[in-house]
Amino acid sequence: MRRSSDLQPEIADDSAWWRDAVFYQVYVRSFADANGDGVGDLDGIRSRLGYLELLGVDALWLTPFFSSPMADHGYDVADPRDVDPLFGDLAAFDRLIAEAHAHNLRVTIDLVPNHTSDRHAWFQAALRAGPGSVERDRYIFRDGGGYDGSVPPNNWPSQFGGSAWTRVPDGQWYLHLFAPEQPDLNWDNPEVAADLARTLRFWLDRGVDGFRIDVAHGMAKPYGLPNLDPRAELGSGVMHDNSLDPRFDNDGVHEVHRMIRKVIDEYPGRMAVGEIWVKDDERFARYVRPDELHLGFNFRLVEAPFDADGVRVAIEHSLGAVRGMDTPPTWTLSNHDVTRHVTRYGGGGLGAQRARSMTLVELALPGVVYLYNGEELGLPDVELPEWALQDPIWLRSGHTQRGRDGCRVPLPWEGDTPPFGFSEAVTTWLPQPNEWAGLTVESQLEDPRSMLSFYRHALELRKSHGAFNGDELEWYGAPAGCFAFRRKGGGLICALNTSGGPVPLPPGEVLLASGPMAGNQLPPDTAVWLV
Ligand code: NOJ
Repeated sequence: MRRSSDLQPEIADDSAWWRDAVFYQVYVRSFADANGDGVGDLDGIRSRLGYLELLGVDALWLTPFFSSPMADHGYDVADPRDVDPLFGDLAAFDRLIAEAHAHNLRVTIDLVPNHTSDRHAWFQAALRAGPGSVERDRYIFRDGGGYDGSVPPNNWPSQFGGSAWTRVPDGQWYLHLFAPEQPDLNWDNPEVAADLARTLRFWLDRGVDGFRIDVAHGMAKPYGLPNLDPRAELGSGVMHDNSLDPRFDNDGVHEVHRMIRKVIDEYPGRMAVGEIWVKDDERFARYVRPDELHLGFNFRLVEAPFDADGVRVAIEHSLGAVRGMDTPPTWTLSNHDVTRHVTRYGGGGLGAQRARSMTLVELALPGVVYLYNGEELGLPDVELPEWALQDPIWLRSGHTQRGRDGCRVPLPWEGDTPPFGFSEAVTTWLPQPNEWAGLTVESQLEDPRSMLSFYRHALELRKSHGAFNGDELEWYGAPAGCFAFRRKGGGLICALNTSGGPVPLPPGEVLLASGPMAGNQLPPDTAVWLV
């Protein structure tokens, strides 16, 4: 068996390296394009490793780069053990891992165990083989209702709009919680688990440091696929109350995570984080039991408004959910599925100012941070023209929901006009706005007031200053619209002001502020670190 050490230099042993790591999510299509086709790729990432090291992150999470027809931009995987030619090949992947490790960056990759592409060899075989076959049993095929079987087997909606069922020519239906091009796998079939174990080992042997598990609360389906109660008030968004939604967070999912953990445990120092859109703290905690995931993605900060009380509630839930478990909390403000936080907080100068303050809050917290590429440049969402939209949500919602393309626009690296050094191509897969000339890496790198310099400074302090020790927080009394907490171990104080006016600073010496300070006052839309 080929082990990572045959391929690249070892990084010093530090097997729980992930416990306080800062991960950087690379949305592969949009990070850097080396082959000039307007879409980012693995060699593009490799060409920018120096930048990532300079930024000061510890690890990368690469979104799917596997063989895929790209119906959901790679989350529809046709072969999980190969690289799509759009992004490179296995040799390019090996080069990337080796060089990333040489830059002291760990590399984690996405895994998509809930579904495959409809072009996966298994699904193609299932279509050919017909009802009742072993090939169909790898997916969730059912007969329909009604006298002619034309009614979907149950009333489940797809996360991308419309029914979660699609009918095939012989009359059966198959389940897809996402797009029709993403048929759900049948996790009651042992072949499915065996194949995932093979995929895990394939990439572990190539040297990956860990995985991000897509829809980690999805794989198991309830017995009999009961209807969703149409009267159930699920609440809004993906992080709704799953106890009323039979599609997600079924108990059987934990067996899948135990299987994944067993394989990963054969490789010391590797880890897995799950995408867990589960609101209830106690249900969330089940995913990070000692024999399951190392980390659970927590989306509380993504969902919180820019309001001190709301942010504090989000923090307390996130800490509470993992208290007593042997796993740190995780924090994230943006990713490739949600509106970028500069935009969520109001956009423009105000959005950027608030985003800086929330970055200080996030980086002051104990545990693991996930940054999304481009947030360090202060990128907002882009209001794309309709002709440019590509997200399946746009199509499936009958053009009523614009989907997630606005947060996925390729990064601006240098120069005054698109494609800003992202690509040699004139046209990029999503168009960049001309206004991004002022947000390029080049224009920010040497400017001490830029968002990029601010991130570098904050990340450096987080890594090197003793004040960031300790897992617990103590909250101070604070004026309305504000909060202040202290890291119990190291003593760092972080104060946030979301009220309309300045407030007195807690005692201490300012280590870093998210914006200009006014004497002993903390201005609105500003956060500060004190020691
Ligand atoms: C979650 C991923 O983050 C999202 O981008 C994708 O569309 C769905 N899972 C389906 O795989």
